[in-house]
Amino acid sequence: MPVIVVEAPAKVNLTLDVKYKRQDGYHELESVMHQIGLTDRVTIRPGPPGSIRLRSDNPALPDDRSNLAYQAAQLLLSRYGKGAGVEISIEKNIPLGAGLAGGSSDAAATLWGMNLMFKYELGWSDLSDLASRLGSDVPFCLLGKFGMGEPGTVVAGSGATALARGRGEDLESLPGCFLPWILLVKPDFQISTREVYHNLKPDNITVRPDTPAFLAAWQDCDIMNIAKNLVNVLEPVSVAMHPQIAELKAKMVEYGALRALMSGSGPTVFGIFAEQSRAETARDKFSRDFSEVFLVSSYGGGGLSAGTQITAG
Ligand code: C5P
Repeated sequence: MPVIVVEAPAKVNLTLDVKYKRQDGYHELESVMHQIGLTDRVTIRPGPPGSIRLRSDNPALPDDRSNLAYQAAQLLLSRYGKGAGVEISIEKNIPLGAGLAGGSSDAAATLWGMNLMFKYELGWSDLSDLASRLGSDVPFCLLGKFGMGEPGTVVAGSGATALARGRGEDLESLPGCFLPWILLVKPDFQISTREVYHNLKPDNITVRPDTPAFLAAWQDCDIMNIAKNLVNVLEPVSVAMHPQIAELKAKMVEYGALRALMSGSGPTVFGIFAEQSRAETARDKFSRDFSEVFLVSSYGGGGLSAGTQITAG
């Protein structure tokens, strides 16, 4: 059986709107999600029958059932495994608890890699169904794996940008637009997504993204108007919990970003830059005070081909 190495890219939310709280406790979202060139690397190997073994190069990452990649393996093996076992090793580059979907992306990469290795031949419908059971962001992380060529040993997708609705699992692919300079700063604390949603009062949201305006800018790959329309309704909630996020945003603009935004439920703040030299200077300035600073671009080509429509069933 081959060893499969799967890249697991992080995402940022370029817009995030919450429509209302649903009966099931989740929030109804409308969010543009975009994969970026900050990637974990998930290696999948056959393991002793009936076993799941997970290891990583980050001691802070749990290696048991609480790890989403472990849960992904468990779910697949329980349905299709017939007593098989798997070894998963994760090279961790995406910060934990950061709002960048690192854990979700590792889980998506595990689903994808095991599907290839064990030749389950599951398509989008089955895999995205499993993904949505694991977490709201996992289907999006899986989306970028589809629409690729024949699998090799290193599987790198073209990357995805999508408009996510529902819990986040109802996805509409958007055309690719390559953002060359995205600067990420992860402050030295983590935020619980559950807590942020718990503190959100949907009726009190005052500033929402203008999603149609964002989508028009995205369609034209108009970086000025993309930047202008970056809005995340979770940001004020996380800022109330950690005012440092607002300071980071202000600094990002002071250092030359067109605009800055918190990703997901935070705490990572990203800035979009129009010029490489400014982005590099900002990176160097932030690096004096923060250990987790990343200057990246969009992942791969920045998106699937225009007009692709995939909806999780
Ligand atoms: O789906 P996931 O397990 O990643 O979500 C983590 C938590 O975030 C959920 O338990 C829920 O409290 C909150 N959440 C939400 N609405 C969403 C996504 C997540 O309320 N659409």
